[in-house]
Amino acid sequence: MNNIVPLIFSFIALRLLAPMIFASDSSDYYVSVSCNATLYPDLCFKSLSKYAASIKTEPKALANTALTLAFETTRLTLSELRKIGGGGESVGECIEVVGDSVYNLARSVRRMEGEETGSGLAAQMSDVETWVSAALTDDDTCMEDFCRRCGARTRAAVREMVFKVARLASIALTFIDRYASG
Ligand SMILES: *[C@@H]1O[C@H](CO)[C@@H](O)[C@H](O)[C@H]1NC(C)=O
Repeated sequence: MNNIVPLIFSFIALRLLAPMIFASDSSDYYVSVSCNATLYPDLCFKSLSKYAASIKTEPKALANTALTLAFETTRLTLSELRKIGGGGESVGECIEVVGDSVYNLARSVRRMEGEETGSGLAAQMSDVETWVSAALTDDDTCMEDFCRRCGARTRAAVREMVFKVARLASIALTFIDRYASG
């Protein structure tokens, strides 16, 4: 009899825990499969797997989370660039283009918040796709043509930061396109 009690408890515990374990497994799997379809699967999984539980297996949540992350990271990058720039002209251009990128991502995040349907949804997604593409173009421009007079180390640091936000925007765009066409 005594041996059976712990057994029953572990059986009950398993019944209670299993759905949570499997739920988190399947959302990790969903994020992993989705990320593998992007151009940057490693960065994608590294940045999004921690939100797997709230993404579940929902394309809209995936697109929203990736977009919000791109926006937040770009905003932080802008303030980093401002620190590095220190008022000098060399980083100035880059600050301007990344600033445009922040603006475009911010309005994309706001536009995604509406629960639109039918033709409203098509227009909504078309706006978001346009603006995120613009943000991506801004980042690209900045990488090609920035910081000409910066030292090698600053140039490398800026390049790495801008590269990352461009990649996050690209990942977000992949998921937004997929949600829009699904
Ligand atoms: C995604 O790709 C990685 C690396 O190739 C692989 O380890 C992982 O199993 C893939 N994920 C899925 C769910 O197929």
